[in-house]
Amino acid sequence: MGEECEIMVREFDPSKDLSSVEDVERRCEVGSSGKLSLFTDLLGDPICRVRHSPAFRMLVAEISSTKEMVGMIRGCTKVVTCGKKHSRNGKSNPDPTKPLPVYTKIAYILGLRVSPSHRRMGIGLKLVQRMEQWFRENGAEYSYLATENDNYASVKLFTEKCGYSRFRTPSILVNPVFAHRLTISDRVTILKLTPNDAESLYRCRFSTTEFFPRDIDSVLSNRLSLGTFLAVPRGTYTQDSWPGSGKFLSNPPESWAVLSVWNCKEVFKLELKGASRFKRTLAKTTRIVDKMLPFLRLPSFPELFRPFGLHFLYGLGGEGPRAANLVKALCAHAHNLAKQSRCGVVVTEVASREPLKRGIPYWNSLSCAEDLWCIKRLGEEYSDGSVGDWTKSPPGVSIFVDPREV
Ligand SMILES: CC(C)(COP(=O)(O)OP(=O)(O)OC[C@H]1O[C@@H](n2cnc3c(N)ncnc32)[C@H](O)[C@@H]1OP(=O)(O)O)[C@@H](O)C(=O)NCCC(=O)NCCS
Repeated sequence: MGEECEIMVREFDPSKDLSSVEDVERRCEVGSSGKLSLFTDLLGDPICRVRHSPAFRMLVAEISSTKEMVGMIRGCTKVVTCGKKHSRNGKSNPDPTKPLPVYTKIAYILGLRVSPSHRRMGIGLKLVQRMEQWFRENGAEYSYLATENDNYASVKLFTEKCGYSRFRTPSILVNPVFAHRLTISDRVTILKLTPNDAESLYRCRFSTTEFFPRDIDSVLSNRLSLGTFLAVPRGTYTQDSWPGSGKFLSNPPESWAVLSVWNCKEVFKLELKGASRFKRTLAKTTRIVDKMLPFLRLPSFPELFRPFGLHFLYGLGGEGPRAANLVKALCAHAHNLAKQSRCGVVVTEVASREPLKRGIPYWNSLSCAEDLWCIKRLGEEYSDGSVGDWTKSPPGVSIFVDPREV
């Protein structure tokens, strides 16, 4: 049907497409009136949500005769862990009891939009197919995307027309930034790691977690990464006695936890729209009371009805019986950083079965219990031989959510 409509798909051109892209985005946001919905302001850069990935591309669809823009799609590729293997070869693996990651090149689709006036004409399908063509040319072995479980059109397009299958359902956990600072348990010490130290800790402990990016070093040293923080029981280490990740991991305390903070505020802003007047008033009242009586420690609702920024917590992990408590302390620390940066919320995304989830504070009303990730195998020749078809594998306990794709 796409051919009948004479749709041309071409590369996005920032020198002339900015306003028409914004226009399509705006028109796509209308529709869910009455319901509370989240709006994204890309701060004038339509590629912002993929541009930190190793390779990325944006395509637009326009009507050939009129040059009217009617749709767009963004995509990126990178190398991630898709499984693990045991190697008996001592050279590549100094500790043969420890599994090694198996990497694959994966592509990610996001920001697919078609103007409401031009839907069901095959434009979405055409955009996906053209993007997948680029993925294959780029050597990607899999393609995936995240969508809301109840986005019927998108789920149907990908699973029924494009050959994707439902893969993982991680939880997006959102916590508001309160007007007061949160106190951190005095039984916990929080240390800030250098990007190098953070890299070796992550590679050593988390490289076999699925979706772990092989270029974790470029994530950690990106200017949007605000730091990696490690929580240990008080009395084990201080910033001054920190021996470096290698020594730390050869003799770690019984429990420890780690997380990193990513500054999405510089990339995009969000805004809640459609809340009833009653809800807004209630939010305003709690904010005022919280400001006046901070010692009450009321969870006041931040100003989310104006554009607000967010921090994303990634690389969350830990070991030992107190790990969830230490995660809680890290989240309080991250909350205070976000407050300092005047963010509206702190967001993280973890596997639905993640055991450390109970240490993460979040508000149900702002969170999404099941973000649906769909995946597809793109070709026949794979480097994942020892893993088999990743799309058929059961989920791991944890998942590494790349902050570049938030
Ligand atoms: C999802 C979206 C991109 C689909 O674009 P589109 O151009 O209308 O899709 P297509 O015409 O190519 O549809 C192809 C197939 O997808 C499925 N589909 C698309 N929209 C559907 C709908 N509203 N209801 C049911 N199935 C739908 C159908 O199987 C359809 O094939 P058919 O028309 O032969 O039955 C569009 O609805 C949109 O922009 N939505 C808002 C933004 C969004 O949700 N993006 C996806 C985020 S990942």
